[in-house]
Amino acid sequence: MDTRTPAELWNERYTEPFASYGTEPNDYLREVADRIPAGPVLCLAEGEGRNAVYLASRGHSVTAVDLSEVGLANARKLAARQGVTLDTVVADLTTYDFGDTHWAGIISIWAHMPSAARPALHAACARALRPGGVFVLEAYTPRHLDRPGVGGPPVADALPTPAELRRALPGLRLEHCREVDREINEGKYHHGPSTTVQVLAFKPPAGAAGQDSRDDRR
Ligand SMILES: C[S@@+](CC[C@H](N)C(=O)[O-])C[C@H]1O[C@@H](n2cnc3c(N)ncnc32)[C@H](O)[C@@H]1O
Repeated sequence: MDTRTPAELWNERYTEPFASYGTEPNDYLREVADRIPAGPVLCLAEGEGRNAVYLASRGHSVTAVDLSEVGLANARKLAARQGVTLDTVVADLTTYDFGDTHWAGIISIWAHMPSAARPALHAACARALRPGGVFVLEAYTPRHLDRPGVGGPPVADALPTPAELRRALPGLRLEHCREVDREINEGKYHHGPSTTVQVLAFKPPAGAAGQDSRDDRR
């Protein structure tokens, strides 16, 4: 039986710097990065910092949270290499204080958490965005379990469905919440044909009525 804690397990994975998920940002984040307004950004479960560094290089002040201190140490090295700085916080997302109406963007790329933890986590994200702020998520879905060995936790409980996420972000306007089949190439743990959910959601500007444009239900 594996007796390592999750932090020990992830720390071990990151002892080979940048081999796991690489140094390039996630494709979907790159696609929607222009939609994130100026201001502070919070990157959840950010590992070795490739997405955080990308957003810092676009001018955001970025806080990266992860339970792996080794991952975040690598993130700071990647930031230094690319001439930017990050605020890094070693914390468990189930107890982290996201704050209130603060962030211009919250980024959740492969932040796979147990189903029991997700409702509170996503409600905290919605609360913590400032008016006009953007929530960006990409995660593997349960359908991805049909593609063993190409990435993501092999456990259905850790994989959100689009239907769950459409209900999970109180007060945000969903621009899209879509399940996609796409090729992923992000280092040794994420590669090959994959099935993911991609979310782009906005907190309405102050005074605007929340309006949901969910145009892509499946
Ligand atoms: C698949 S990696 C993704 C890393 C990064 N987001 C990326 O795209 O390169 C998942 C990350 O989630 C972190 N993680 C897992 N459970 C966590 C928790 N409860 N709180 C904070 N981080 C967690 C792990 O340490 C790991 O770095």
